[in-house]
Amino acid sequence: MKKLGVLTSGGDAPGMNAAIRAVVRKAIYHNIEVFGIHNGFQGLIDGHIEQMDIGSVGDIIQRGGTILHSARCEAFVTDEGQSRGIEQMEKRGIEGLIVIGGDGSFRGAQALSEKGYPCIGIPGTIDNDIAGTDFTIGFDTALNTVIEAIDKIRDTASSHERTFIIEVMGRNAGDLALWAGLADGAESILIPEKQDAMEDIIDRLKRGQERGKKHSIIILAEGVGSAFDYADDIKRTADLETRVTVLGHIQRGGSPTASDRVLASRLGAEAVDLLQAGQAGKVAGIQNNQLVHHDISDILSKKHTIDMNMFQLSKELSI
Ligand code: F6P
Repeated sequence: MKKLGVLTSGGDAPGMNAAIRAVVRKAIYHNIEVFGIHNGFQGLIDGHIEQMDIGSVGDIIQRGGTILHSARCEAFVTDEGQSRGIEQMEKRGIEGLIVIGGDGSFRGAQALSEKGYPCIGIPGTIDNDIAGTDFTIGFDTALNTVIEAIDKIRDTASSHERTFIIEVMGRNAGDLALWAGLADGAESILIPEKQDAMEDIIDRLKRGQERGKKHSIIILAEGVGSAFDYADDIKRTADLETRVTVLGHIQRGGSPTASDRVLASRLGAEAVDLLQAGQAGKVAGIQNNQLVHHDISDILSKKHTIDMNMFQLSKELSI
């Protein structure tokens, strides 16, 4: 392989820059030229492509966001958009593409691979919702952002003796909520994978009150529903003073943690090795701290699962 391309797609995640850096530097280390594609698959269609060198990825390992920018691209779902993308790469002699993103982005990579154009995916999303990898790039940073916010909310919750419902991102996955809830000793963790009945949530709050607890923290994954609806229900049924905080996009920003930088560096380098070894249609991941790769089609057909032992533990520790 003499030339490869790299793009970031879908929702950005802290650590994407570290992954881009690893792709660029590992490729150059192997005498492969690297081309950065701006604005995800839309930039690929539009030919928004430029060659990168060692300097283009200097001083970015610690930066959040993505220097290549990102987008969700409807046009790439079409056969026409995909063929145009391949054309843009072929006319520059680019022989393979590395796609950093989530499952939507992997669908684009899968379509290209099925058309005979080699692609490798790297899981980059704060949601941690990709099968075949224990962690996605950005999850650890987002998790730390969430717990820092919850620690602050806990201070005011305690001063005012209030119940707080904190809504976190994660799309249809409960990982961010579960890990944050366990890390922060939340009274209840509401996740889409295992929904508790409202009576259980109230029971738990009441038991806390009986033990003299004056404030409570409930973490709600956005995939479960609106925190405001839950707050109304709790206010109505348990007559507790309730407040809601929706953490929103601050969860997607910030300097990546050491753990995300290391993960991104390992996965970025692995993706280059896979392309160079003639692999195509794969997603690189990490399982039990070992680098692995799986077929994109397998990854997309499997449902990401939550660690139910952790969920059970969170309940046992917040009795
Ligand atoms: O997939 C990452 C994510 O941040 C989800 O957690 C969230 O549901 C979604 O993206 C928000 O997307 P947007 O930034 O397009 O509003």
